[in-house]
Amino acid sequence: MAAVIETRDVRKSFDAVQVLRGISFALARGETLVVMGGSGSGKTVLLRCLAGLIKPDAGSIRVLGQPIETLPEEALLPIRRHLGYVFQGAALFDSLSVHENVAFPLREHASLGEAEIRIRVVHLLSLVGLDETVLRLLPSELSGGMRKRVGIARALAMEPGVMLFDEPTAGLDPTNSKLVAELITQVGSGACDTAIVVTHDLELTRTVATRVAVLIEGRFAALGPRDDVLNSDDPAVQAFLAGEAR
Ligand SMILES: Nc1ncnc2c1ncn2[C@@H]1O[C@H](COP(=O)(O)OP(=O)(O)OP(=O)(O)O)[C@@H](O)[C@H]1O
Ligand SMILES: [Mg+2]
Repeated sequence: MAAVIETRDVRKSFDAVQVLRGISFALARGETLVVMGGSGSGKTVLLRCLAGLIKPDAGSIRVLGQPIETLPEEALLPIRRHLGYVFQGAALFDSLSVHENVAFPLREHASLGEAEIRIRVVHLLSLVGLDETVLRLLPSELSGGMRKRVGIARALAMEPGVMLFDEPTAGLDPTNSKLVAELITQVGSGACDTAIVVTHDLELTRTVATRVAVLIEGRFAALGPRDDVLNSDDPAVQAFLAGEAR
C-alpha cells in the first residue's frame, strides 16, 4: 500500500546552517511515528516541510501520493485539509475566543451555517474533554493544558486523516501530559489513524509510538519499531536517550 507520507533525502538549510541533512522515511496508515531530538535539532522544521509550510532545498516529499514540494500554494490547500497540525505551544489566536479558534478552519474551508458550526465546535471540544463553559473564554484565560487541548480540537476540525503534533506535552504537568497522551492514542482509534508526534518526552514516546526516529545532526540516527530504537545500542542514540531520561 502507498505510504501516507514519504520523504526522500530531504534537506533544509537556513543561511549557512544545515538543519536537515537527508531525511528519508515512509509512514504507513495506522502508524504513530514519534520523532525525538534535542532542542534546535530541526524537528519543527521537518514538520513544517511535511505540511508544505516551508519548502525543502532538496529531496522529495509525498503526502497522500502528491509531490508537495513541487505544488503551488493553491494545490496544497486540499492536501493540508488531510493534515491536522497541532503547533508547538498550541498557537491559538490570542484575540479570538475558544469558539472562534476551533471554528476557524471550519469557516475557512467549509460552507457551514452558524448553528452547524456551533454543534461541531461543541463536539470537537467534547472529544478533548472540554465542555461549553470554555466557549467564550480567551486563550489567556485558559491553563496550558486547556490551551493544548483547544489546539488539538482545532486541528481535528477538518477531520484529517493524519495528525502532526509538535511537542504536545511540553510545559504540562504529569496529569495533563497523561491526558494529552490519551488523546493522541484515541486519535489513533478514530477516523484519523495516523500521526507524527515530535517530542522530548520519553514517557509520551513509550505510550503512543509504534515507530521512533531520533534526529541527530540533521539525520535520523535511528528509525525503527519503538522498542528497538529505545533499546538501541548505537552510542549516539543511547547518549541522547540517556540525556532525555535525566
Ligand atoms: N525560519 C527560520 N529562519 C532561520 N533559521 C531557522 C528558521 N526556522 C528554524 N531555524 C533554525 O533551524 C534550527 C532548527 O529549528 P527547529 O525549530 O526545527 O528546532 P526544534 O528541534 O523544533 O527545537 P525545539 O525542541 O526547541 O522546538 C534552529 O537552529 C533554528 O534556529
Ligand atoms: Mg520545535
